[in-house]
Amino acid sequence: MYLTKEEEKIYDGERGEALQKAIRAIVKVGEALGADRLIPIQHAHVSGISYYNIGEAGYKFVKYLYTSSVKTVVYSTLNPLGMDLDKWEELGINKDFASKQTELVNMLLGMGFEKSFTCTPYLLRQPKFREHLAWSESSAVGMANTYYGAYTNREAGPLALFSSLIGKTYNGGLHLIENRKPTVRVLLKEIEKDFVINEGVASAVGYIIGEKIGDGIPLIPLRLKPTFDVVKAYTAAAGAAGSIALSYLENVSPEYSLYTNENLEKIEIDIKEIKDILVDALPILNENDAYFIGCPHASVEEIINLYNNIHDCKKLKTNVVVSTSRMVYEAIEKMGIKEKLLNLGVVIIRDTCPIVSPAFQKRFEKVITSSGKALFYLPKQQSQPTILLKNINLRDILCRE
Ligand code: F3S
Repeated sequence: MYLTKEEEKIYDGERGEALQKAIRAIVKVGEALGADRLIPIQHAHVSGISYYNIGEAGYKFVKYLYTSSVKTVVYSTLNPLGMDLDKWEELGINKDFASKQTELVNMLLGMGFEKSFTCTPYLLRQPKFREHLAWSESSAVGMANTYYGAYTNREAGPLALFSSLIGKTYNGGLHLIENRKPTVRVLLKEIEKDFVINEGVASAVGYIIGEKIGDGIPLIPLRLKPTFDVVKAYTAAAGAAGSIALSYLENVSPEYSLYTNENLEKIEIDIKEIKDILVDALPILNENDAYFIGCPHASVEEIINLYNNIHDCKKLKTNVVVSTSRMVYEAIEKMGIKEKLLNLGVVIIRDTCPIVSPAFQKRFEKVITSSGKALFYLPKQQSQPTILLKNINLRDILCRE
């Protein structure tokens, strides 16, 4: 791989051992993918920050970098942690965990990371068309490539962290337009109308596509424009059930028109397949269950929708849990919605989510959600029975008259 004079100095250790390790890892992965050089990135986003997920090994890795005094050199954000930094005691997190997680966060902030703690970094800084990123949260990678037309591979957390320190990534994989061609045309036919407006249906479609085509690149013709939250739900589910990092959705993806006439293998997803994983009927919930939104972290619009459905409930039938970013939390606070939801008994958590926090292991009898990513991970990581819901008649499901 070609390296500039400065990159060579870093590679040879003249800028310290930590940066040497960082650039060597990026070069090694790049060479395996046939990259010819390194390219500058505008934004690094690092996942694997929850002490619950990375444990002592991850903690020691960050400590090594922190004590080496290396700093981020580009705008760099962090994924959710294992706890809400302000409400960890309320959530039942123990002191030892909280102390390790807090130290981990403080080291990362000391290295120059933003206090983001969200899997929706695109709401903090909107990726630009065709700009290069090094992101390592699969749902965010899907949004960057699919919705914004930015270019990023689906990096491992440590590699995205290394890129934040070097400001570069390898010129390979999805950074090259020739590797971004769609591989399969997915026809939705009679479910298209529901897909473009309903997060539950979009999640089910993403889940099925992820399972069917693994790491392929689907192209999905659509006559109507899906909402932002539908694209968010779809990309998260496709990235969880498969390794899909890029999809082309008509009326959404900026480069869709490049491939309209491409001769591709076709698959169709029909209503029967959707019904196999999506509950259409009204589930009966009690105080041991939960309704959950916020995987990926809930947007302002999703929380407003929840609020509009339940604001005049006398009492909730079940637990309602929302995970979101600090930015969205502040926005709903200014709108006066946060206080009203809290008064109703809704649990709103920031900085974390029920999938990456130890506070949510087997916490409920069942969880109902419209998130396909939560459907994929909650049973596996938290032993939590989970049902994917079409998300209609929310008021009837949640309110006790
Ligand atoms: Fe985000 Fe947690 Fe889901 S990090 S994408 S809310 S698993």
